[in-house]
Amino acid sequence: MSRLLKLAACLLAAVRVSSAGSGPAIAQDGSGSASSVADAPKQPIAFSHKVHAGRMKLSCRMCHANPDPGESMTIAAAAVCMNCHSTIKADSEEIKRLAGYAKSGKDVPWVPVYELPSFVRFSHRLHLEKNNTCQECHGPVAERDVLFREVPTTMTSCVNCHQAKKAVTDCSSCHELPN
Ligand code: HEC
Ligand code: HEC
Ligand code: HEC
Ligand code: HEC
Ligand code: HEC
Repeated sequence: MSRLLKLAACLLAAVRVSSAGSGPAIAQDGSGSASSVADAPKQPIAFSHKVHAGRMKLSCRMCHANPDPGESMTIAAAAVCMNCHSTIKADSEEIKRLAGYAKSGKDVPWVPVYELPSFVRFSHRLHLEKNNTCQECHGPVAERDVLFREVPTTMTSCVNCHQAKKAVTDCSSCHELPN
């Protein structure tokens, strides 16, 4: 480990000790999980994965591309939705609102469900290349009308899977020194 990374690790460990008191070095449970649908964020349009990914069996990648450099999954623009919804349910209030976004070219202001603090390094592409599945980290999405953070994104949950799959567990893999 370089000295810089060691320093980063010490700094992070120090923050942990001062904010969380004593405890095992790796067991930490933040507010990373929402245990029920009651904790689901209110979305601007009542979109259902159960209808689109479940009943209609549309592939996740149709709406969630993974553009370079591959860290994030994106959410398809309203114009993609309108390929179907210019005719399907075009009279519904929800779809009229959707059509409004598509027409103005504005992004639909979807509220994030899963979100890591900026000091954590995470790449979807790296995980997908190692055959981790969407469901392992996001639950049975295709059965849900409404998404909530049903799989925690705490440090403990990352580390548990990393230990089970013999992936990296050193601090500097997931954290870089804040600027
Ligand atoms: C491949 C076609 C297709 C695409 C693409 C598609 N939908 Fe749908 N959507 C449907 C169908 C079919 C239904 C069910 C209609 C029904 O219940 O009769 C539906 C239902 C809906 C409803 C419920 C409408 C209501 O009032 O009942 C909403 C809201 C919706 N879609 C939003 C979206 C959004 C947002 C996107 C893009 C992210 C999208 N859809 C993409 C086909 C599609
Ligand atoms: C027809 C388009 C469509 C398909 C197909 C689709 N999604 Fe989505 N997805 C959306 C939209 C729109 C949102 C934002 C609204 C919401 O959170 O429900 C979203 C949100 C999400 C989120 C939460 C994103 C965040 O901000 O934290 C996850 C996770 C997700 N989808 C996973 C999946 C998985 C896994 C599949 C396949 C089983 C899938 N989606 C299929 C349109 C789609
Ligand atoms: C190893 C765990 C893991 C896997 C596998 C995974 N995700 Fe995620 N996903 C996350 C985490 C963690 C976040 C929050 C990322 C952040 O805030 O930087 C996230 C965020 C998202 C988002 C919100 C946009 C973004 O990138 O922040 C969408 C959409 C999403 N995931 C869809 C999917 C889909 C679809 C799949 C499968 C093709 C998938 N995810 C596989 C852990 C995972
Ligand atoms: C479902 C299991 C699983 C979960 C959950 C998971 N990971 Fe991973 N992660 C893996 C696997 C498998 C690898 C690849 C290990 C390898 O190639 O040696 C990996 C690799 C990584 C790497 C790349 C290491 C490198 O440089 O090659 C980082 C960084 C990482 N994960 C961060 C995270 C973070 C942050 C979280 C939690 C938000 C997380 N992971 C959750 C399974 C998981
Ligand atoms: C596999 C990825 C991963 C590894 C390895 C990892 N962390 Fe984390 N760490 C995270 C994630 C994800 C969070 C954010 C959790 C949340 O949002 O609740 C986090 C949060 C933290 C925090 C902030 C805690 C708080 O109270 O907000 C500190 C400090 C920290 N980690 C230190 C460390 C140290 C020290 C190590 C090495 C012993 C380490 N981390 C190893 C993923 C990891």
